[in-house]
This record gives sequence, structure tokens and C-alpha cells, in this order.
Amino acid sequence: MLFVQKESGLFYDKIGSEYRMMRLNMNRNNLEKYIIDRNQVKIMFTNSILTLSVLTSEIIRVFQDRGCNNNSYAIEENKTEETSFEVKKIDDHLELKTSKLIIKIYDDEKVDVYDEQENPLIIDYRGNRIPLDRQVDASHQKLAESEGHDVATSTEKNSHYYELVKKLAADEQFYGLGDKTGFLNKRHYAYENWNTDNPEPHLESFTRLYKSVPFLIGLKNNHPYGIFFDNTYHSYFDLGKESNKYYYYAADDGNIDYYIIGGTSLKKVVENYTYLTGRTPLPQKWTLGYQQSRWGYSISAEKVEEIVDKMRKYHLPCDAIHLDIDYMDGYRVFTWRTDTYDDPKKFINKLHKLGLHIITIIDPGVKKDEAYQIYQEGLQKGYFVKALNGQVYVNKVWPGDAVYPDFGRNAVRKWWAENCKFLVDLGVDGIWDDMNEPASFNGEIPENIIFSDEDKKSTHGKMHNVYGHNMAKATYDGLKKASGKRPFVITRAAYAGTQKYSTVWTGDNQSLWVHLQMMIPQLCNLGMSGFAFAGTDIGGFGADTTPELLTRWIEAAIFSPLLRNHAALGTRSQEPWVFGEPTLSMYRKYLQLRYHFIPYLYDLFVKESKNGLPIMRPLVLNYPNDPKVKNMNDEYMVGTKILVAPVVEEGKDFRAVYLPQGKWIDFWNNVTYSGNNTVLVNAPLDKLPLFIKKDTILPWGEVKDHISSQPDEKMIFRVFGEYGNYLHYQDNGTDFAYKHGEYNLYEINVDGNRASINLKKHGYEPVYQRIELRTIDKKIDFIFKDQKYLQI
Ligand code: NOJ
Repeated sequence: MLFVQKESGLFYDKIGSEYRMMRLNMNRNNLEKYIIDRNQVKIMFTNSILTLSVLTSEIIRVFQDRGCNNNSYAIEENKTEETSFEVKKIDDHLELKTSKLIIKIYDDEKVDVYDEQENPLIIDYRGNRIPLDRQVDASHQKLAESEGHDVATSTEKNSHYYELVKKLAADEQFYGLGDKTGFLNKRHYAYENWNTDNPEPHLESFTRLYKSVPFLIGLKNNHPYGIFFDNTYHSYFDLGKESNKYYYYAADDGNIDYYIIGGTSLKKVVENYTYLTGRTPLPQKWTLGYQQSRWGYSISAEKVEEIVDKMRKYHLPCDAIHLDIDYMDGYRVFTWRTDTYDDPKKFINKLHKLGLHIITIIDPGVKKDEAYQIYQEGLQKGYFVKALNGQVYVNKVWPGDAVYPDFGRNAVRKWWAENCKFLVDLGVDGIWDDMNEPASFNGEIPENIIFSDEDKKSTHGKMHNVYGHNMAKATYDGLKKASGKRPFVITRAAYAGTQKYSTVWTGDNQSLWVHLQMMIPQLCNLGMSGFAFAGTDIGGFGADTTPELLTRWIEAAIFSPLLRNHAALGTRSQEPWVFGEPTLSMYRKYLQLRYHFIPYLYDLFVKESKNGLPIMRPLVLNYPNDPKVKNMNDEYMVGTKILVAPVVEEGKDFRAVYLPQGKWIDFWNNVTYSGNNTVLVNAPLDKLPLFIKKDTILPWGEVKDHISSQPDEKMIFRVFGEYGNYLHYQDNGTDFAYKHGEYNLYEINVDGNRASINLKKHGYEPVYQRIELRTIDKKIDFIFKDQKYLQI
């Protein structure tokens, strides 16, 4: 095996278990020969080898072994489909062609990718990188640093362990990358992949946050593509910040291991990426309801019950209450304090009877306490990560001195999963995995601390970015086994593919208007990166909210799949009632709107679980050729039919709304607008500008104080326009019976004055006994008789 460190001209040759380092003439890395073995093409250069694997006609892996364990945490099953492809040597290059992609490989490992029509997608850059000139020499650097300025960021190293530098086109736009701050289009910015808990207010200058999803979507001259870099080490993206000629991905270590993802549309690229790394499974229906949280009130049963009483007293729909770290005994995970909770099981049961679900936080840090059973057991079994001297590594988190479970090991994940039973047995309905970057209060965890990579000894450097992923996976497995229900896990840290196991939230935002503004692009990019089930802390976590900010936040977030108001200890309370009227009524109005739309959101999740397309999405995903939406940061869509244009500035009571092609109906007054147009909309504090695409049918759920476990007897469908066709899904909303056919599918058709309802699939009992179609000016009722819907 041979691999080359390009910049230095060094190459390493592995002889037995030893690496020999040699200097090469870097001018000669000629493409010499190739071997085809099933779906793989091994390309031998003078000094190196690249292997291309054809997974599908639109997914091709590019791999170079650099001596690292070659397993993926993002991709779990065999994703290779029988695919025909051709390989030919043409003049100066080798050409690999599927029915959808053309890959041309040249000397010096240059790889160029085109779509089937020969439109360039990903082209290797042939020049050299020119790092940014920041005009600072060594003396200036000291001066600048003494003033507290950050003069160079680590994304800008002159060279990295490896770099993949690609040509940048004048009009190229970038999306994806998970939870990064800033704007929708990532061009001109640089980012890092290193899961980070930074308590400062998240600004667009942040290069990293809690999640690392090295999936980049490009739109080059309207031709879409994706690249997924499956490397868990600290890595970097520069998307045209350093130069307008190239963009690059670089890593500190690891193999070169990336997937070229084609697709005839942006949607197809996201479908392909989520085919590869997995899709968010259908959630329990109640998880789409409103959720109330605050760090502080879980200190006693009494305080939580007070919150619940007020939710019900003020007729605020609510499906879940989150318990933050205070419910535990001294922040010991998998314990429950007994001083302020007489009987946690009874307490949870009481809340269940009021229709509320309970979600408890769990952190990875296990308190170092000889008398604590989880610590003792983990220690005895060798389940915690170790320092170089072989001793268990200790850092500090909430409980003080704490140790870290080695989630890279299957045995540790199993152990953690088994411990989740403690919570499920008490009645807990979901687990919120926090601090799993992993966070540490006593300095950063050194990169050489010993972590496991499955059964191989590894380092924190390699396993850091998948730590939260593996914790979420263990939690998912534990909940599934103990409850038999669709697990509800929320995680702060994640890697590509975590969407299979967990919902995510964007961590510790603040009660700032800029954070409300950022929510839209951040959730849209998470959605484009496979994380269809995501949300922000409504009202803002840190700092003190205002009545206006809280109102605009609940309006703006009302379609975000995870709908949770959460605030930090020590901040001003922000439950819906604390500001009195009119905030309370406005908040209630939007919660009620949310509950009307829950059947639609659930239908979208059914589709998403099959195609990976997000619920909340940027306009560019639906209208990729419309230049007006490529940088659209203040509007979003829900599926393909609802356009949301929130007011995200203080003191504003109107806004311009861009409507893409087609006709759009104002949800509030039924006025129809033509698209490809910007309209000025009046938006006083209680109004969220909302538009429905003309000729759309949407289910319209009943407003309830919580999503009942009783099946609905009746369903309403609203018809916006004169025509439409809609497929509606129904099941028990909780377990996996739907996988065995226990679900119903209703097809609704409206064609001018004619309407019909057809029960296309009948696998779940009971079906709706009555269905009402509501157009702008009339109602049409149907009853279920003799297995059919009859108009009455
Ligand atoms: C950090 C989390 O991001 C936040 O949501 C939580 O309230 C605190 N940890 C305390 O557990």
C-alpha cells in the first residue's frame, strides 16, 4: 500500500506494519493502469491508488486508503445496487460512465465529474491554492492578538493532511453542511467539521457548531450535485472564501473517502444522499405536537405540575414536557432524585392521564462516584475512555468529575441501551441526549485520548465527531427495545446519518432577533442534509426574550417539525402566558394552527421516510431554476404546497413576500396572487404571512389539547382552488404495526364541481366514518358505507 502526502512530496509505503517515508518526484504521478473488479475500478498511478466504486448510476465512491480503519458510521447497510457501467481509456484519461454520470480520471489523481449530458459538475482544480493574505506578519500578529483579535483561523492552514480542491464556477451555489450558522447559500464562507459546544451567541462568523455533516450540495449553472466526505476527523470546507476560482475540502487525518452524488434535480440529490446515509423514520404522531421545556423547573414534581396546570388552564395545546438535568439525583445519569419527587412513576402516570408525554435529558458524562452503580459497573467492565497511561480519563461536566462512555464500542452502546430501560419503566416517553460533542468543562479532551472505533483501539481525534451519533444510536435501540414504540430521541451532537436515530435541535441559541432570522436557513440546510426532524429553542435559550420576539418566534417556527420552547436557567421565563395578553392569545392561535396542520405534517413524514425530502425546506429545493430563491433566507416551504414568510425583524408589521411560479392563495383572506412576483403583505404582530399553492388539498386536523391516542372519527380536507388530488395516510401513530400493513390510504380528488374519496388501502381500523371537504365557499360531506365514501 502506498499513499502520498501531496504538498510535501512525501510518500509512505507500508512494509509489514511499518511505514517507510520517501521523497518522490511529484511531477510524476501518472495514471498507469486500472483493474475492474465487480463494481470497483482500481486505478494505479505511479505513486498511489484510487478506487472508484459504483453504488448506483448516481452514486460513486472515491476511495484512497491512507491506513485508516475503513468503516463508516454514516452508511450502515450495503448500498450497492447491480449497476451497469463502462470503463474506457480515452487519450489522456480514463472514463467511467454510468447511465447518469461520467467520471474522467487523469494523471495526478485528477477526477472530473459530468452529468449524462456532459455538463460539468465537480471538476478538480489544476492550479495551486493561494491562502488568504491577511496582511499580518509575525510582529503584527502579536499586536493584533494582544487586542484580542483572531488573526487567522484554522480553516486557513496553508496546507492540510490532504486537500481536495475543486474548480468553482461563477454562479455556483452551495447548500447542506448540517447545522452551520449563517445564510442558506454557503458560498464565500469557510467551515469546520468538529462538533463544538460554544456558549457564545452563534453568529455567522462561527465556523463550527454541535454537528458535523460533511455533505455539500452544489448547484453549478443550474446543474445539481452532492459530495459526501465520509471522514470523521476534524475537517474543513472553504467554499469560495479563499478564492473565487476554487473551493476545497480538507482533513487532518483519515482516508480519502468521498461519494459523488448525482441527480437530475436538487431533490434527487437529497434523495440519493439519504438513500446512502438513511432517512428519518416515521415518528410517533404526538412528537409533532407542541413541547414545553425549561432548564430549572424539573427541580421538583410540584414545579412541573404547575407548568402543566397552566398549559391546560390557558387551553394551550401541548403534547410533551421536557425534564432538564435537575430531575436527576446529583446529575447522575439514569437516576431520579427522591427529595422533591415522591414517586416518579406515579408523577409521570398523572401527566400521561392529562395527555402529556415526558422526555428526560441524559448526558454522556457519568459522575465519578465510587458509590454510584452506573460508574461502578462501567468501570468494572472497562466501558469508559482512557488516557494514554491506561487510566480512565476524567474531565468535568455537570456532576463535577465525570468519565465518558466509549460509545464507539458495540458493547458500550448495548449497555447504555439497557440502562434506558430504567427511564422507560418509569413511563418516560423520549430521551434528550445532550452535551454529547462531547462537552467538557475542564479544557478540551485531548485528541490522543483512547477511544474505540468498534473493536479497534482509536483516538478521540477520530471518534469525536461520531460520539453523539453513537450515543443517539444506543438511545434509539434502548427505547425501541424497552418500549416497542417508535423511539423519540433528540440529540445535540450528530454526524451524517444520525437522522436514522434521532431528532435534532440547534442547541443553545439566544433570545436575539438575529437568531430568529438564522433559524430559517439553519433548519433548511439541516433538512437538505437529511435531518428532516429538527427545531430550534423557540423564544431563544440564552438571554431574555421579549413578548414581540416570542410571538414572532412561535409564528416563524410553527411548521418546524420539532416544536419546542426551551430556555436556560437564569433567563426570564418564556412560557406562553408569562407576558399576559395579547401574547398569550397570539401564542395560542399559532399552537392551534399547528394542530390543524399535524395530519399534513404526518403525511409529509410518511413521504420523507421513503424519499428523505425534508418537511421544512428552502424554496430553492422546490424551484431550483429560479434565480430569486437561491439566496432566500427569510422564507421557507412546507413540502411543496405551503409557503411561509415570517416577520423576523423587530417592530415590523409588513413585509415583501416573493412567490415563485404558479398561483398562490393567501391563507388568511383567500386572495389569489400570481407567482414570479413579489407582493407586499400586511403583517401585524398576530399575523404570519402564509400562502398555499392554488389547487391544493390539505388535511385539516381538529384542534385538541393534545394528540389523542384515540383514532379520529372524522377528517376534514380543505381545498384551495378548484382542482386537486391528495393522498392521506392514517395509522395508530405509535408503534411499528404499520410496517406490517396496518395503515389506511385515502385518495381525495377534486375536479371542478366533482369530488371523490377512495379508500385506496384499508389495513387499519377504524377508518374515518365521516369526511368533509371544505372549499372556499362550500362544504361537501361524505360518510363511510359498504367500504365506500358516499357523498351526502
Ligand atoms: C445544554 C443544552 O444545550 C441545554 O438545552 C440544556 O438546557 C443545558 N445543557 C442543561 O442541561
